[in-house]
Amino acid sequence: MRKGGLKSVDKVIAVASCKGGVGKSTTSVNLAFALRAQGYKVGIVDTDLYGPSLPTMVTPENPEVAFENGGSEIIPVEAHGVKMMSMGFINPTDSMVVRGARAAPLVEQMLTRTQWGELDFLVIDMPPGTGDIQLTLSQSVSIDAAVVVTTPQRLSFADVVKGVEMFDKVGIPCVAVVENMAFWQNNELSKRVEALLDEGASSSPLLPEATRKSLLDLVSAPQYIFGKGHRKRLAEMWGIENTYALPLEPALSEAGDSGCPFYLTGASSNPSIASQYDRLASDVVTEIHNLEKTKAARPEVIFDATRNMVVSITKGGEEQIISPVELRRRCRSPTNIKELITDDVKPIDIFPMGNYAVQILWNDGHQSLMPYASFVEGLL
Ligand SMILES: Nc1ncnc2c1ncn2[C@@H]1O[C@H](COP(=O)(O)OP(=O)(O)OP(=O)(O)O)[C@@H](O)[C@H]1O
Ligand SMILES: [Mg+2]
Repeated sequence: MRKGGLKSVDKVIAVASCKGGVGKSTTSVNLAFALRAQGYKVGIVDTDLYGPSLPTMVTPENPEVAFENGGSEIIPVEAHGVKMMSMGFINPTDSMVVRGARAAPLVEQMLTRTQWGELDFLVIDMPPGTGDIQLTLSQSVSIDAAVVVTTPQRLSFADVVKGVEMFDKVGIPCVAVVENMAFWQNNELSKRVEALLDEGASSSPLLPEATRKSLLDLVSAPQYIFGKGHRKRLAEMWGIENTYALPLEPALSEAGDSGCPFYLTGASSNPSIASQYDRLASDVVTEIHNLEKTKAARPEVIFDATRNMVVSITKGGEEQIISPVELRRRCRSPTNIKELITDDVKPIDIFPMGNYAVQILWNDGHQSLMPYASFVEGLL
């Protein structure tokens, strides 16, 4: 069960990116409202402490944040049936100047002290990067799945790799990749050219229909300014089939500044973008439900003191063993200094974390979060 106010939250989805400004908040907000439109109980949390954007993007019906139990419990604000929390709602005038290691506990407090009530999905708009705060949150909140946002420049593929690997390290599956601002389509120009052609047709000899059509296709064609993106490689490398290319669309950024999400206001004028968000929402739901099956099949991991071995037992009773020292060497946490691992290192507690990982508390005070795959690789 999750901690504090998160206890009745069923699934947690992280929306993340390595770089800032690629459209995480835009994706988080529109994903949350698309999920709501599909009938789910949804919450969204903005984890940016020093430049929160949720208050600008979505105006709550009642912007006053209420506190209960002597201030220890925070009641989320709400808009169009979606619960929301951000440091910008709690402290609208001051932006906070906490970063790095000090930011993580504050974000965790905001997340767990908020009384989310029963939610099907909580969308976390993660801070950019692959540092401590992202890892701490991934571990402490027990995130079920991640959506990685990127822009499709050739160099940014390295960022997608970093993002997916960061989640992979803590056993959180990346279920979708959004390529934001992937292309540009000049709808205004298309409309004007079409009007001019109609106007011209009434006064001068008709343009052949085929020429007219080719001209209109030409001006309305999407321009892939940065190339066609990374879809193929994503599918090949991680089997990630769920990719979405969203255009550079002024209506998306205008909605972002207006206090009302694009998904609610711009959908009628721009149905193709709204349908991409719908598809993202349904794919994330489907993927998360499929993960349940994998979860049901996950092994049990124990420390067998008599053999001095960590044992992973599958549902079918198959055992895999690994020595504590070897397992500790496989811990990829940046605080795990390989040179300092001693021969008498032992786990003192092992418990499941997320869908694909276990947390291990070691006798020297170190904590590891390791995917089940860590026990299988290079079996003893
Ligand atoms: N597809 C799009 N078309 C046009 N503008 C967009 C699009 N996506 C996002 N924007 C705009 O780009 C800016 C950055 O987007 P957003 O705030 O969602 O990014 P972010 O990754 O959350 O940034 P940060 O790292 O600062 O939190 C915003 O002004 C937003 O309105
Ligand atoms: Mg943001």
